[in-house]
Amino acid sequence: MHREGWKKWLVEGWALLAVAVLAFAAGWLIGDLGSSPEKKTVYVATSSEEAGASEAGQAEQETAEPAGAESAGAESASGGGAQVFASNGCGSCHTLAAAGSTGTTGPDLNESLAPDDDTAGIEEMIADPNLEVIEGYPPNVMPQDYGQSLSKPEMHELAEYLVATTPAKP
Ligand code: HEC
Repeated sequence: MHREGWKKWLVEGWALLAVAVLAFAAGWLIGDLGSSPEKKTVYVATSSEEAGASEAGQAEQETAEPAGAESAGAESASGGGAQVFASNGCGSCHTLAAAGSTGTTGPDLNESLAPDDDTAGIEEMIADPNLEVIEGYPPNVMPQDYGQSLSKPEMHELAEYLVATTPAKP
């Protein structure tokens, strides 16, 4: 009697352990599956960065990180386009009076943006700078990955901010 009780306990113990191990493995698998798309997005952004501009590689890495996450969207909703401009390194290359920036690597946005540049056009210039390279400036210097690293609302706010602060018209 005594012995059998002990045996039974042993069997139940093993069964419990097996269930625990299975549950752990399932949880680990599900967790891994859930996180893998995220990892992929990050990887794609990084690889297109490398393909884009080798000269500006360092500047890109700095700018890509803070903007990558979706959570930055909520932040910019309150900060607006000025915040997006400030936190993505635009001012390090571009002069913009409203932002108080004095970068000279890229064109002075107060002068280069004209009334025939509109919000959608500016969004395009930021997302795909090589589409139309400004005369006198080299291609592949402006990071090519803002289209991925900035969320749609951030990109829109940024373009609206530039329309509001330069000769560009909506
Ligand atoms: C590493 C330097 C660099 C950074 C950072 C940078 N740019 Fe540029 N940008 C350039 C250069 C160089 C050009 C001109 C060549 C070209 O058109 O690709 C340019 C062109 C532009 C143009 C087109 C101007 C015109 O007259 O049509 C706009 C708009 C612009 N940048 C906005 C931005 C914004 C907004 C950011 C931040 C999100 C930014 N840039 C970040 C270097 C930079």
